[in-house]
Amino acid sequence: MEYRHTPVLPAEVTKYLSLHPGSIIVDCTLGGAGHAKRIADSIAPTGTLVGIDQDDAALVAAADTLRLGRQIILLKGNFSEIDRLLSEAGIAYADGFLFDLGVSSPQLDVTERGFSYHDEAPLDMRMDPEGGGPTAADIVNSYPEAELLRVIREYGEERWASRIAAFIVAARGRRPIRTTAELVGIIKDAVPASARRGGPHPARRTFQALRIEVNRELEVLEQGLRSALRWLVPGGRIVVISYHSLEDRVVKRVFSELASGCECPPELPVCSCGKEPVLRIVTRRPVVPGPDEIESNPRARSAKLRAAERV
Ligand SMILES: C[S@@+](CC[C@H](N)C(=O)[O-])C[C@H]1O[C@@H](n2cnc3c(N)ncnc32)[C@H](O)[C@@H]1O
Repeated sequence: MEYRHTPVLPAEVTKYLSLHPGSIIVDCTLGGAGHAKRIADSIAPTGTLVGIDQDDAALVAAADTLRLGRQIILLKGNFSEIDRLLSEAGIAYADGFLFDLGVSSPQLDVTERGFSYHDEAPLDMRMDPEGGGPTAADIVNSYPEAELLRVIREYGEERWASRIAAFIVAARGRRPIRTTAELVGIIKDAVPASARRGGPHPARRTFQALRIEVNRELEVLEQGLRSALRWLVPGGRIVVISYHSLEDRVVKRVFSELASGCECPPELPVCSCGKEPVLRIVTRRPVVPGPDEIESNPRARSAKLRAAERV
């Protein structure tokens, strides 16, 4: 299947990464290499692009798009393991990191991966199916009701979380829930008809919640950002594009913690914590796509870009 994914905020990514020939840039979410191709062109001929993705299909597509050579290194893995991946690849430092979070259009479009509530497929949702972690089916069939409720409420910000969790537990008591369509049916039964009229698909929030839980998305994001910092040279940039408020909140919190200095109580006459800022926030407010981009690429609608620089 052809791998089609239109990069979001492409010009802004290039601008905020502050690219120049010779830079060493790590694209932690390579996907189809839409951003990576532009980056590789901007840092050629002496720069190095390192592309990371946990999805084999993305790596195959990216290898096709990029002309592989000494200046382009593709690595399979989770960006929470940047330290191991970069060390093994013999990289000593980086001038920039890009995180373009979430799933790619092809991941959503391949029905069998179980990300979509529009099709019937096994309930999987793992971005790295070979990684061996639990699938969405494992979660809905095994988590205690209170845990399911927490996941759906916290990661889906779903108003009907407690009804959905209770309906899932009742349904799996009759027989295991195996497919996306079975889960959609259960969610539709749980959400009152009046709340289902208008608004987004009733399963959208629960599917988002399960995807975040399956792939430990918020946890690995925080690990990835903190690890990236250790490899950045002074003046090097981290650029992150997020697509929902939970991700954006993690980016904002980690950036502002790393950009703040002394944390001693104001009554202390001299600093005893010794904390120094290690980042400077470049985008005080998140950068968002304009109406033209949103019209031509609806996936860009919820995108927020934040950038920070190593001091
Ligand atoms: C939105 S797409 C990136 C698209 C890419 N920027 C482009 O222009 O083609 C996100 C990609 O990141 C990968 N990904 C998401 N989380 C990841 C993680 N924790 N570690 C490694 N790859 C991840 C997904 O498999 C997917 O291919």
